[in-house]
Amino acid sequence: MHELTPETITEAVLEQMATTSDPRLKEIMTAAVKHLHAFARDVNLTPAEWLKGIEFMTSVGKMCTAERQEFILLSDTLGFSALVNGLHDRTAVEEATHTSLLGPFFRENAPKLEAGAQIANQVTPGTEVALWGKVTNVRGEALANAQVSVWQTGADGLYDIQVDASGTDYRGVFTTDAQGNFLIRTVRPLGYSIPMDGPVGALVQAQGRHGMRPAHIHFLVSAPGYRELVTALYVKGDAHIADDVVFGSSSDLVAELRESDPACPLQGIASMRFDLTLSRESAVDKATGRVGADPAAIFKAKANEAVPAKPAKQGLFGTLFGR
Ligand code: BEZ
Ligand code: FE
Repeated sequence: MHELTPETITEAVLEQMATTSDPRLKEIMTAAVKHLHAFARDVNLTPAEWLKGIEFMTSVGKMCTAERQEFILLSDTLGFSALVNGLHDRTAVEEATHTSLLGPFFRENAPKLEAGAQIANQVTPGTEVALWGKVTNVRGEALANAQVSVWQTGADGLYDIQVDASGTDYRGVFTTDAQGNFLIRTVRPLGYSIPMDGPVGALVQAQGRHGMRPAHIHFLVSAPGYRELVTALYVKGDAHIADDVVFGSSSDLVAELRESDPACPLQGIASMRFDLTLSRESAVDKATGRVGADPAAIFKAKANEAVPAKPAKQGLFGTLFGR
């Protein structure tokens, strides 16, 4: 037994955790403890400050419901989701379109629509936009029958589920044709504020940040044999393209909204072209590339855990680390 001091405590914790049998859990927790301890030493963290931090994380947890995932929002505003997305892209076998935030408003089971269908239930004249492009592999070969799921906010800057949890609007799932093309009618996306009425919003405000995302449209694209892609297009010229509060916008994901484009298959309305490339699937792609998830699905998974087949060792670490 050696004397525990701020200098020796990290080693003592790592020594005690050395019995961890799962190698990946051991690697992750070793690094987490090292960095967490280094952080406390760096800022000379006081007990009152650490209690404030615990209070903050507690309120983040309490804010989470089937409709709202405040922890994902925290991860997003700290740039952590974008970082994990970037690391995920580096594990692809080919460099394809980069990942961008899934965000908290993705929902499974969006309506399946025909090519050229309008995803908004109501369209104010003059706001309609044709969203078109091609899904290919990295060699430019068309991917037919790829699923292209899109979702965005309405003219009020809110997603359907923020207005009415059971409503479906401004979202749809399309299928590419034999040439890999998709064609979607939508409305002009608007930049909007992330939800600011919770602890994450309070932190963002305390930091003097604006809380805005630039205008964007989310995409989730899949095709058999290819890695699922979670990304978004960001509208060129938006005032917040360079200071997105959740660090999702990136110059390679910018699309231009053109008032008229002779190349667009739909004429008479504004249009945006956004081509997408997918990487071939590899063994690592069995795990999800989605940072953020449908919170309803998280809650459903939790409910199923309440009656586990193997009660003793199940739970987060049992499922996450495959024991
Ligand atoms: C979104 O784009 O939907 C989003 C992403 C992160 C935080 C909040 C919203
Ligand atoms: Fe969004």
